[in-house]
Order: sequence, then C-alpha cells, then structure tokens
Amino acid sequence: MAGSQIESQSKLMFYPTQIKEIYRIISIVGRITFNHNNREVVKEQLGKEKYHELVTIALDSNLQVSNVIYDYFLEKEDYQSIKQYFTISLNFARDTSTILDPFAGEGVFLELFTQAMESEYSNENIHLIANELETNRYNAIKEKGIVNEHYNLAFEEFNKLPKNSISLLLYNPPYGDTNGIRNVKHYLDLILDIGILHNTKDADKEYANGHIVMVIRKDDLLDSLPLIVKHFDVYEELIYKVNEEEYNRYKQYVIYAKLRKEPIDLNNTYWALKYQEEMQLITNTIESNPEFNIKMYEKNYRTRIDLPSIPYREMKFNMSAAKKAKELQSDLSNSNWKWIKELTEIKDFTTEIIDKPTPLKLGETANIIASGMINGEMSLDNKAYHVVVGGTKNQIRNEEYKEKDNNGESITVTKKILYSQPYLNVLVNNNGHYEIKEIIGGETTE
Ligand SMILES: C[S@@+](CC[C@H](N)C(=O)[O-])C[C@H]1O[C@@H](n2cnc3c(N)ncnc32)[C@H](O)[C@@H]1O
Repeated sequence: MAGSQIESQSKLMFYPTQIKEIYRIISIVGRITFNHNNREVVKEQLGKEKYHELVTIALDSNLQVSNVIYDYFLEKEDYQSIKQYFTISLNFARDTSTILDPFAGEGVFLELFTQAMESEYSNENIHLIANELETNRYNAIKEKGIVNEHYNLAFEEFNKLPKNSISLLLYNPPYGDTNGIRNVKHYLDLILDIGILHNTKDADKEYANGHIVMVIRKDDLLDSLPLIVKHFDVYEELIYKVNEEEYNRYKQYVIYAKLRKEPIDLNNTYWALKYQEEMQLITNTIESNPEFNIKMYEKNYRTRIDLPSIPYREMKFNMSAAKKAKELQSDLSNSNWKWIKELTEIKDFTTEIIDKPTPLKLGETANIIASGMINGEMSLDNKAYHVVVGGTKNQIRNEEYKEKDNNGESITVTKKILYSQPYLNVLVNNNGHYEIKEIIGGETTE
C-alpha cells in the first residue's frame, strides 16, 4: 500500500517544460515569420547598432535575420516582444493539424502554441487536445479555455481519440517507472499501441505521418532509444540538450521524430543493419551532448517538419457513430426479428397431432422418430407403452439379372444397390428379460 502511494505521488510530480524551451520547440516545428512593419518597430526598439549587429551575424552565418532576432529575444526571455512581433506558422495542408499533450500539466505547452500562432489562418486550422490526471492542473487547463478538447484521465484509460488522428504529440511524461519499466518507455509503448499518431499508409504521402516532440531525461532517452528508432524516423540534426540552467536541474533532451510507416522489421537483414547504424549514429550524437543552435530553426529537407493534415471532425464523427452503433440494441419485436425467429426456432411438438389417413408403415414411423417429432415413447391405442428408437441405416443388397455378352452368350450380372433402410427398435419384455427388438421397414405396424 505504502509502495503504491509513493509511486503515484512520484508520477504526479510536476516538471513542466520551461517556457524558453517551449518557444524553441514551437519555432523548430513551425516557421518564424516577421513582417515588414514589425521589423521597423524592432529596429527602433533595439537601436540601430544592435539591430545591425544581429543582421551581420545572420549574414555571416547564412541564417535568416528573423531567426536571429527571435533567438535574441528568447535568450533575454523577453516573451512579450516575441508575442508582439513574431508569428509562427505550421507547415500543413488544407485540413486541421491536431496537437495532443497527453500529460498536459497546466497546459502551458499548448497555451504557448496557440499564442505563438495567433494569425487567424493558423488558429482555425489547429485543434488542441489536453489530458491531465491531476485535478487541480486539469481545472487550470479548463479555466484557461485555450484548448479545443480536454480530458481528466489516466493515460492508461485514455481512449477518446480516433486512431491515426494526431499530427503532433508533445511528450513530457511523468518520470519514474511503472512496474519496473521507465515511464518514458512505458507510455511511449502505450501511445504506439493505441495507434493515435497519424499513419497515412499512403505511398504518395510518406512525408505526412504524425510527429512527436519529446522532452525527456538523457538516461530515459538512451533507455527508450531502441523503441524510438524502431518506430520513428528521428531528426538526428535536431537533437539538443535544454539550456544549461534547466539541464542542470532535470537533465532533459529534446528529440523530434516522425512515425515510420511500419516499424523496422528486425528479422530482415537489410533493415536490421540499418537499425543498428541508426542506433549508433543517434547514440553518438546524444553522447556528444549537443547544444541548441540557431541553425536548427532553418529548414532544409532533413530538418523541415511537415505536420500531417487530418480530417479530424469526420474522424471524430465516425468514431462516435461507431460507438453509438455498438450501444444500439435491436428491437426484438420488429418484424425482421420475428421472421428470423420463425425460420430458426426449434418447434415444440409436445402438443402436435400427426394426422395420417392410412395406417403408418414401419418405415414411415421410423422416419418420423428420426426427425425428432416423436420423443421415444409411443402408446398403441393407449394400451401398451413402448420405448422406441427409430432411424434409417445404409444397406447394400445384391440384385442379379441376365445379360448377353459380346459373343451372344447369356451371363448373370450382379449389381450392388445402396439403399436406406428404415428401422424401429422397440424395447420389449421377454419373460422378465428386457430385449431390443428390431423391426425393419416395409411392414405396417398392424
Ligand atoms: C512532467 S509533467 C508534464 C507537463 C506538461 N506536459 C509540460 O511539459 O509542461 C507530467 C504530468 O503528467 C501528469 N500525470 C502523471 N501520471 C499521469 C497519467 N497516468 N496520466 C495522465 N497524466 C499523468 C502529472 O500530473 C504531470 O502534470
């Protein structure tokens, strides 16, 4: 009992992702935009000298000016200026991009996502979903009114979302372990199991699978790496430690990865080798303690994150329609059911009277018994009661006839004929001994 209390307390510990790191993540997933008017205002605010210094850094290092200025404000933790001057847009197509934080704390991660993407175009295409187990934190999310869906559930029983419905999952799970398995691995396994990350299975849209951003401890990252590499394409160039002050506290790394269409098949020699190479490359990168670098904001084909666009409303509708269908009970009084019942019902013959104009032959009696209409006990004119069993059995009889052969000689041909012989076994009392008397068909019961 005490053990389980300690475990649940440690799970509810709150290590929220630092605001500075969330802003970084948003700008790596999305694209920083900075319009001309705001550029002029920023030039004023920073002073010409500082502004030119930043522009020079950008030109010398082949970086975008907007990214360098954004990072300058971020390092100063001047979030007000960031909110005021920059907008972040996600790379996604027509439909909705869904973002889920399954261990949402007070929902700050999601809150900053909405704030950073304030442009109307982005906002109406982003659907935010939060789940948090601890009630006070959950209530805080609800009160902020910033997410489109919120749940107060243990992730272990989280079954609210359609399969394949998530474009981006923010992963900062509780630390510690569950039954000896580190939570980072345990919950990642569950996420993969319930299949909520989008997987297109469409050859033309390989780029468009669901993504995950993990903010996890270095030891957890190394521990879960086999599972991560098996199921995800890791953006190796985007792995970094959180800023020094935060790293000294929680030893966290940030990892970006895209769900593979199929997990790597380790029984296939080619893929097993590829897997080993990848494991080695990523382990080396992690062990080199990579720091964040402004270059990570720049997009190229290895670092550009395209979030899948999801027909979320339809998916959700289909899910609830399927649930309702499961809950529906058939009306057993409707005519369809009556019709099926009539066809399949085993009839009760106890009160049935068989009316036959001519006396029953034995074979007919046997057939009626074999059909199950008479249940083994018969009376003859209400005088004698007999236990009878009837049925048919396969018999062979020989029939002989004469034929002429090729030479005109008369020969006898024997034909074997297979036929069904009705029979009736009657239990009789033969001078105090019970005997079974078989009466075969063809005779009348008289
Ligand atoms: C490390 S915090 C992450 C908070 C948030 N994602 C962030 O980055 O700011 C983990 C959160 O998971 C919650 N939690 C713990 N066990 C949980 C469970 N089984 N299901 C859902 N949430 C859980 C904790 O209450 C805590 O708020």
